[in-house]
Amino acid sequence: MDFILTNIKQMVTNLGHGQEPVKGQAMKEVGLKEGWAIRVKDGIIDSVGPEAEILSARDENTEIVDLQGKLLLPGFVEPHTHLVYAGDRAHEWALKQQGVPYLEILAQGGGILDTVRQTRSAGKEALKEQTAKRLETMKRGGITTVEIKSGYGLDTATELLQLEVVKELQEEQPLDLVATFMGAHATPPEYKDNPQAFVDLVINEMLPAVEKQGIAEFCDVFCEAGVFSPEDSLRILEAGIEHNLRPKIHADELGVSGGSRIAAQIKAVSAEHLMETDEEGMELMAEAGVIGVLLPATSFNLAKGTYAQARKMLEKNMALALSTDANPGSSPTENMQFVLSVACLYLKLSPEEAIMAATLNAAHAIGRGDLVGSLDPGKQADFVIMDAPSIDYLPYHFASNHVSQVYKKGVPLL
Ligand code: NIG
Ligand code: FE
Repeated sequence: MDFILTNIKQMVTNLGHGQEPVKGQAMKEVGLKEGWAIRVKDGIIDSVGPEAEILSARDENTEIVDLQGKLLLPGFVEPHTHLVYAGDRAHEWALKQQGVPYLEILAQGGGILDTVRQTRSAGKEALKEQTAKRLETMKRGGITTVEIKSGYGLDTATELLQLEVVKELQEEQPLDLVATFMGAHATPPEYKDNPQAFVDLVINEMLPAVEKQGIAEFCDVFCEAGVFSPEDSLRILEAGIEHNLRPKIHADELGVSGGSRIAAQIKAVSAEHLMETDEEGMELMAEAGVIGVLLPATSFNLAKGTYAQARKMLEKNMALALSTDANPGSSPTENMQFVLSVACLYLKLSPEEAIMAATLNAAHAIGRGDLVGSLDPGKQADFVIMDAPSIDYLPYHFASNHVSQVYKKGVPLL
């Protein structure tokens, strides 16, 4: 399989950034090219450059595909989802509309715990079917790699089952999946009166079982007042490292949780949400090389008007990624293009910075920066083809799907 994609109006290459996450000022450097073409051989990017140059190197077996003036971007990388769950929480949406806070709903046994009940009783086939449908939506929206967290089981068997679902779906659909164990997502009702015993269960029973099962690569914790303390989060992430799981953390989503300090201390791969992070937290994370994964669709849906201070984070030279946070509670969406719009409007990112955050930096946030996220020769031929006149048009024309084709490892998926 050898082909060249030609007649590309604008191409986002993300070239020239080496192997490291792209920080601060450099995030706007997406390597935008007009009149360039790209050659793919056996699912891998072979070469990229001015069209005449790429075409002159072809041989008789090279197929030419005319993209008719569309845009080409690296496939979106989705670095933070909670996709394996059953049912929905549409019934709670009204409570939120009445002003009941997210953590209050959780404290009353709803929220995450409502989804835990639905997930525990769903069974593997139903979970797979519902997750596959969400992945299909992501694929149609131009996402080619997806991180997925457990965390709606909160008992060892169901946590392992969620990770098993990820593994089986990896075999049955084309997107690359990356699994994260997040047993510390909430304290389940059976440990309500003894939350420390649940932390012990995560450390002493779940983490060894997850390592033995061998599916998850990362460990994540919801560090938030009333959920898991900074001390417990640190204990869990340290234990995760001992079980070969790289640390990630949900930090400062609803208040200054202390999570960004823990992220810096443990040199987490990424810290997620950061809606309330203070400047010191930003500085510590920048210093420690923690990638900030921002989830502005969650801010949008929580509707408190609080957004992460992305511009400050860039000033402090952090590397930022973007994600949908797809989950049934705080962010019921699979739409990365919508996230780009919200990121530009409310995080004040430029279209270039937002695209970098949803491609190359998102890949780094899930340990895939060497494989995807840019058009460097040798990387996987994962592209999204957009029917739009310019990259600026993508966030501007919001809440629509501009995708006309998606390539995964050189295979057109639509
Ligand atoms: O990233 N904050 C914790 N976890 C998810 C929400 C999960 C849920 O509400 O079901 C989040 O926002
Ligand atoms: Fe999340």
